[in-house]
Amino acid sequence: MTDKTIILEKARAYVLQELKDETSGHDWWHIHRVTQNALHIAQEEGADLFICELAALLHDIADAKLNESEAAGLQKVQDWLIRNGVSPNDRDHILHIIQYMSFKGGTQTHISLSLEGQVVQDADRLDALGAIGIARTMAYSGHAGRPIHDPARKPREQLSLEDYRSGQDTAILHFYEKLLKLKDGMNTAYAKKLAQGRHQFLETYLEQFYAEWEAER
Ligand code: ADP
Ligand code: NI
Repeated sequence: MTDKTIILEKARAYVLQELKDETSGHDWWHIHRVTQNALHIAQEEGADLFICELAALLHDIADAKLNESEAAGLQKVQDWLIRNGVSPNDRDHILHIIQYMSFKGGTQTHISLSLEGQVVQDADRLDALGAIGIARTMAYSGHAGRPIHDPARKPREQLSLEDYRSGQDTAILHFYEKLLKLKDGMNTAYAKKLAQGRHQFLETYLEQFYAEWEAER
């Protein structure tokens, strides 16, 4: 086995251990799907497979929702990379990706990502779309104690990060405040194509949802 294969194996075991009991949408299977998405996209786009796979595996370890602060989360990833012999260049690259790839209510659009960063960001965003994206939204909303839908509430425009995280939200509003915006923010051609299909599925789902809500279907 090469050093890189060993590092990836260790990363898988580490992340499985850390996230196996997570129920807020950052569970091990999310990581598994994002890693598979990332490898497919990386192959199509000619990106570095090792960087994409390792960044995808570690991308949610630093999430502020699972750590005391964003800085503490990033430090945890950095410590792991050092402990497991990842080269300084690869370490910096992976930390940059993990720090800047997240959606955060659309507030991080000014940061430019490397090709590998674009691949992992697309892979993560694909997992927020389609049938899986709907399941994760409902699971997250339930986890946060929020309602499925409230017909009186309208989607908020111009979200700040505080608004986005404020909890003044329903599962259906999250479609408008995040999910339906993701398609146009995809970086790579291959992910754009996949995102279109998954986006269409969200539209179809909402149409059916409102029809059932009004007892029309
Ligand atoms: P973000 O960067 O938007 O916080 P995450 O990857 O942390 O995204 O979110 C985890 C999952 O939970 C995603 O599927 C996301 O769409 C969903 N989610 C995030 N915020 C909400 C919310 N306010 N209501 C419902 N689902 C949410
Ligand atoms: Ni993620």
